[in-house]
Amino acid sequence: MSRHLLFAAILLFAVIPLNTFANKVGGGDLNFAPANADPVLFSHENHVIAKSFKCSACHFHTFQMKKGAYKLDMTTMTKGGFCGRCHNGGLAFNVTDEKNCHRCHHKQQAPFPTRS
Ligand code: HEC
Ligand code: HEC
Ligand code: HEC
Repeated sequence: MSRHLLFAAILLFAVIPLNTFANKVGGGDLNFAPANADPVLFSHENHVIAKSFKCSACHFHTFQMKKGAYKLDMTTMTKGGFCGRCHNGGLAFNVTDEKNCHRCHHKQQAPFPTRS
């Protein structure tokens, strides 16, 4: 490789921010940190790619495209609101089942827990 090429390659890596290469799906990974429960990581990738949901499955009737737009509370979720619209034991694991709390609430944020 010529010296010029090498220099160009180094320059390229120096000026392009790393996150240019990160392929973010939808709103990316969202971390929720409720005061009185373990944190929740919502993965757009796991929902949009792995479960083939269109954006319109959640936006805008259930969620806005802005983190924190609504206060996501468990009372609403156990009545079928927010995450509980699907996580009701039908489409996805039930928010009301004590066995499932840790599937959303867990201290370690990555890597994702693999679903059974
Ligand atoms: C399974 C539900 C679901 C699907 C499907 C989904 N989203 Fe989201 N999205 C959410 C939730 C939940 C939030 C956070 C809302 C809140 O905190 O009030 C969010 C937030 C966002 C945000 C804002 C992120 C931020 O940091 O503020 C963007 C942008 C977004 N979504 C884009 C998309 C796009 C584009 C698609 C389709 C490719 C998509 N979403 C599909 C659930 C979903
Ligand atoms: C489908 C995912 C999911 C499951 C399952 C789930 N939660 Fe949550 N929980 C959330 C999200 C999202 C929030 C909102 C976090 C925030 O906005 O700070 C939340 C918030 C909370 C909060 C704080 C806010 C409030 O409403 O009091 C408590 C306490 C809580 N969850 C307890 C539980 C318990 C107990 C279980 C099991 C019976 C459970 N959660 C199951 C997603 C889930
Ligand atoms: C449009 C329907 C839908 C909505 C809304 C939805 N989910 Fe899911 N979610 C699914 C399906 C379907 C699965 C996979 C089936 C299963 O695991 O039971 C899943 C799987 C998951 C998983 C396990 C895979 C992973 O990503 O680690 C978590 C955690 C999760 N959802 C959290 C949430 C949280 C938190 C919210 C609300 C902010 C939410 N989901 C809203 C449909 C939905």
